[in-house]
Amino acid sequence: MLANAGNGLGHAFLDQDFEEARHVIDTNVTGTLYLIHEVGNEMRERGEGRILITGSIAGFMPGTYQAVYNGTKAFMDSFSFALREELKDSGVTVTCLMPGATEAEFFERADMLDTKIGGGKKDDPADVAKIGFEAMMKGDGDVVSGLKNKIQSALTAVTPSGVLANQHGKMAKPGSAKK
Ligand SMILES: NC(=O)c1ccc[n+]([C@@H]2O[C@H](COP(=O)([O-])OP(=O)(O)OC[C@H]3O[C@@H](n4cnc5c(N)ncnc54)[C@H](OP(=O)(O)O)[C@@H]3O)[C@@H](O)[C@H]2O)c1
Repeated sequence: MLANAGNGLGHAFLDQDFEEARHVIDTNVTGTLYLIHEVGNEMRERGEGRILITGSIAGFMPGTYQAVYNGTKAFMDSFSFALREELKDSGVTVTCLMPGATEAEFFERADMLDTKIGGGKKDDPADVAKIGFEAMMKGDGDVVSGLKNKIQSALTAVTPSGVLANQHGKMAKPGSAKK
């Protein structure tokens, strides 16, 4: 089962439409958990199954100018490992795919095409999907797709949150693509 649906949302939190921000939480967290709860129970009863959750390396850093989204991905990155542990003797595996910026409609839908990250080079979605699928089939706990993202996420573990928030702001600030 692939729990992949998700939305981003650019701009400063106080400038966002609150209903849009809530929709991001509803989709990325509440809807995803509901799906996993329904299908996960069936899998546990059967004694087998594979769940792939699309988290993100965004979950490792405070998402200045995309704060709600990064929060939802931190939730899913964390939730995935907790569920995996709860299901370890059930025959059901849980894997978290953590991509970096990937070519999709994501940044357009999030109104982030004028940002450095939205206008920058991105990973091929077919490569990312293959990496996630293979990790799921192996039953791995998580996989960060791509060497650059692996290095970036390793660095986030030893970088203070304030510094990460500042760096993210430079990548995601509206208008930053022009600089
Ligand atoms: N692109 C990136 O840089 C990136 C990086 C890390 C993680 N991710 C994650 O990757 C996942 C897929 O996003 P994407 O990059 O492929 O973006 P995308 O091109 O915008 O695709 C989003 C997908 O989610 C579905 N979806 C969105 N809201 C939904 C809802 N309320 N109910 C049901 N389906 C919904 C969309 O279905 P419709 O097309 O039918 O609306 C579409 O299939 C998301 O979880 C995202 O957070 C993306």
